[in-house]
Amino acid sequence: MTDLGVGILGTGRFLPDKLLTNHDLEKMVDTTDEWIVRRTGMQVRHILDEDTPSYKMGAEASKLAIKNAGLTSADIDLIIVSTETPDYLTPSMACLIQRDIKAENAAAFDVNGACTGFIYALTIAEQFILTGYYENILVVSNEGLSRIVDWENRNSCVLFGDAAGAVVLGKVDKKHGIKESYLAAFGNLAHNITIPCCFISEEDKEKRRAGHERVFWQDGSEVFTFAIRSMVDSVKTVVKKAGMKIQDVDLIVPHQANLRIINGAAKRLGLGEEKFSIILQETGNISSASVPVALDMECEAGRINKGDTIVLVAFGGGLSCGAILMNW
Ligand code: UT7
Repeated sequence: MTDLGVGILGTGRFLPDKLLTNHDLEKMVDTTDEWIVRRTGMQVRHILDEDTPSYKMGAEASKLAIKNAGLTSADIDLIIVSTETPDYLTPSMACLIQRDIKAENAAAFDVNGACTGFIYALTIAEQFILTGYYENILVVSNEGLSRIVDWENRNSCVLFGDAAGAVVLGKVDKKHGIKESYLAAFGNLAHNITIPCCFISEEDKEKRRAGHERVFWQDGSEVFTFAIRSMVDSVKTVVKKAGMKIQDVDLIVPHQANLRIINGAAKRLGLGEEKFSIILQETGNISSASVPVALDMECEAGRINKGDTIVLVAFGGGLSCGAILMNW
């Protein structure tokens, strides 16, 4: 542990106005509101207009995070965007957001850690501040899942929504900020979640409708098992590294993939559902944006107090997982 604390100075989020309800989905595929609520807990997702680039969501979330941090765009030294749904392979989403918010002093790059992306990006940002290389870093999770979903496949189209969440990371009093982190990857399980881009294998084609190859595909039950196990392991790892007990944690802000996954992890950790931030009923799965959007909602609701022990945890494509323990 160092003398320097690295913590979150401000948070922000953007959710598009357009809503897609379970009842809307009933008209699109062979599904029911009852099935979606019972199997996932989801009710509504936000969908970005087709003619708006996705980075615009991240830019709006960023402006709020910078304002809430009491800074201006000129104070930002680096922008890291986590996304698995970039508008372009180049320019990066980070460069597009930099231009939009006029952060002319910032360097900028993207990270693809799939749904774990925010945990990866925040941990990278922390290292730059700990070494003294940068002072204020904007970390944005920007996801437009509606653009890579096969809207005729009920197995996945009912799950996803669009959103962006942002935080500004900077120096804080050494008692506060990030205390421990854990990042992991399981490339041997890569085939369980795929979104083809510049290459499409025969296996990828077999899993998808002809003419719709560049869409999301997952083995839901394999990922479900991995999700609960990795969430529990990740939370336990950071709590142990911090020399704390699970009961010392005030709030867990998890990836929002399925209410049954959160409940399953809560049960195995011996915690009640009230210790978890749960927003998926109103957002669906928004990939790496889940954690920062939920964090921003909790801050706005006044549910996080100075000195609270918060654990951020996520899992997803890669497969990958990770967690961060912080003193707020
Ligand atoms: O963020 C990325 C990480 N991803 C995840 O964490 C996802 C993890 N997995 C899950 O959350 C769940 O596995 C799903 C929500 C994807 C699926 O739920 P499930 O309870 O595991 O359903 P299942 O795939 O086992 O399917 C059960 C039945 C099947 O019908 P049969 O074969 O029993 O007749 C499916 O065809 O439910 C059917 N089904 C649906 N029925 C109505 C699948 N999707 C739907 C649907 N509406 N939308």
